[in-house]
Amino acid sequence: MPKTVGIGVTGGIAAYKIAELVSKLKKEDIDVIVIMTEAATEFITPLTFRTLSGREVLVDLWDDSREWKVQHIGAAEQLDLLVIAPATANFIAKVAHGLADDLLSTIVLANTAPLLVVPAMNHNMYKNQAVQDNLKKIKDYGYTVMDPDSGDLACGVSGQGRLPEIDHIYAEIKKLLCPRQDLSGKRLMVNAGTTCEDIDPVRFIANRSTGKMGFAIAQDAAARGADVILVCGKSPLEPPPEVKFVPVWGAEEMCEVMQKYQPACDIIIGAAAVGDFRIKAMAEQKMKKANDASEELVLTLVGTPDILKTLGKNKKPRQVMVGFAAETENIVANAKKKLETKNLDFIVANDVTMEGAGFSSDTNIVTFISRDGEIQSLPKMSKQDVATAILDKVVKLL
Ligand code: PMT
Repeated sequence: MPKTVGIGVTGGIAAYKIAELVSKLKKEDIDVIVIMTEAATEFITPLTFRTLSGREVLVDLWDDSREWKVQHIGAAEQLDLLVIAPATANFIAKVAHGLADDLLSTIVLANTAPLLVVPAMNHNMYKNQAVQDNLKKIKDYGYTVMDPDSGDLACGVSGQGRLPEIDHIYAEIKKLLCPRQDLSGKRLMVNAGTTCEDIDPVRFIANRSTGKMGFAIAQDAAARGADVILVCGKSPLEPPPEVKFVPVWGAEEMCEVMQKYQPACDIIIGAAAVGDFRIKAMAEQKMKKANDASEELVLTLVGTPDILKTLGKNKKPRQVMVGFAAETENIVANAKKKLETKNLDFIVANDVTMEGAGFSSDTNIVTFISRDGEIQSLPKMSKQDVATAILDKVVKLL
């Protein structure tokens, strides 16, 4: 079921940055209710948040266009998590002392979901004993408080008080939304994206993988408490902040990196589209085209290492290994062969010719094939939900 997150925006200069957070959460299919203090509306308009969240923004406690219950008790009852970002010194004081003199502070008191407070202010204000005492108080209430970043502040000085990076707030939100820490203490390595094989200094062979599938696995695993290593070929996606990100270029480099980390891993998942061939001899200079368009160019290709097969040979006794199979025909039979030759615990087959499956799309349609012959076909799901289903199966095998 989609989660609902309340984003409480208070009146600090960092309020404008929260637009990016709202849009990031919406992309993950998280329902967002934005609640602003009057002061916050001086820094960014409710219209911006209404457009990004697709919902009316709540500001006024006394707005009689809606029922009183809907305004604060009702909003609080719907939430899986309430986030206050940026949280000003004034608002933190209100939370610490249980004041309820506007809509957001009233919702904080009525709220029973976890509360995440993200302070951002001038560094002297942040260090002030009264603010520190209030922060300690709200931590003692059981609320999660993020430390502000250090750096240049809007007031022209440098120090601790900056709003943490949006990616870090987002990662904290994902962690709090996923209290199930069933991969805590486990190290998971997943690869993603396309490998690239050079033809000459400017050209290379790659494929259509974006990394969406592998990134979804990395992010879900991190949210479930795993220590995640994401080995990534070419991908347009931003590295998730909560994982160790290791960028690579070709299949050989990806193989070397994964072999290096293999002994320390409990779980290895191969979601990358690894090129099966590379150019036998890369041209040292940029290859010139002839004037005649009918000229033919023959490139000789040789095989790349099969990464999962290499790792499969050195599999540790309790290491769980999962592969994907990108197929266009005889899906189950072809996937079964890969499951065996690569010594995997199960394989995730996707028919990449189907609409909404495989490369680039936000969704996938997969079939799990296990060593004992069990076959489980799943309907079309978001890549995030496919990642969750894969990790649920991994947890059972651990
Ligand atoms: O990245 P996206 O745009 O989100 O697309 C997702 C995806 C289609 C790439 C993903 O769902 C997927 O199917 N990944 C595996 C792609 C692939 O290379 O499949 P394959 O059937 O050729 O290989 C089988 C398995 O062996 C895969 O786990 C692959 O990572 C691995 N392999 C393949 C070749 C090779 N040289 N070394 C390998 O380890």
